Amino acid sequence: MNAPADRPQPRFVVEFGKDGTPPAEAGRLDAPAFHRNHEAIWQTLAPYLAAARGAVLELGSGTGQHTVTYAARTPALTWYPSDLQEPHLVSIEAWRTHTGLANVASPQRIDLTEPGWGWTPGGALVAMLCINVLHISPWSVSQNLIAGAGRFLDRNGRLFIYGPFMRDGTHTAPSNAEFDASLRARDRGWGVRDTRDLAALAAANGLALVDIVPMPANNFVLVFAREDRTSKT
Ligand SMILES: C[S@@+](CC[C@H](N)C(=O)[O-])C[C@H]1O[C@@H](n2cnc3c(N)ncnc32)[C@H](O)[C@@H]1O
Repeated sequence: MNAPADRPQPRFVVEFGKDGTPPAEAGRLDAPAFHRNHEAIWQTLAPYLAAARGAVLELGSGTGQHTVTYAARTPALTWYPSDLQEPHLVSIEAWRTHTGLANVASPQRIDLTEPGWGWTPGGALVAMLCINVLHISPWSVSQNLIAGAGRFLDRNGRLFIYGPFMRDGTHTAPSNAEFDASLRARDRGWGVRDTRDLAALAAANGLALVDIVPMPANNFVLVFAREDRTSKT
């Protein structure tokens, strides 16, 4: 899964294979951002996932590259990728077939704008992962993602959310403020979310924001856990 050479890299992608992103190779779409962010994200996931057993659900999996990469490193976990868009579901399945990983399920369609969304086969999850989704979707996606974490995470479960975020009403970099303005100009419902608002959603769903891990390029991994399991706020 090598990085594409010097291709133009859009700041955000709504549908891979369009918007100037690389075309599919045998159905497998490539996300330029994946090559830049997956190792840094893994550093935060690894201490928790490396020794875990059970099911992990990824929301908004896009191409499927994060799921197959992390699944290859966690044979005791079964990964359940999902997305909203058909071309992405096709790509995820193509990556699953290409890698031949026994611990990756076929992708399922989950639309996070649906309150009360569910997953198949259902039940408790040791982790949920959502990468670069919340800023290019309506606020209801953030609400429904965190409500779902409240329903599905097991007692020791974690929700990991990666992306650009504001901290207590303030952008963390001028480039993120510009990015936020460009997102809102494209769609009034989009925008860089504030950790304070996400923490309030978590509290309303029996969870807590327990860690905010800085990532390269002014991004963060937010880690949520059940309120009764929190070690740090
Ligand atoms: C920028 S892409 C990120 C994809 C992938 N997580 C990655 O980092 O490469 C945003 C993803 O969010 C998905 N998405 C947007 N709205 C969604 C919704 N309402 N429910 C579920 N997924 C959604 C898109 O289909 C797309 O795959």
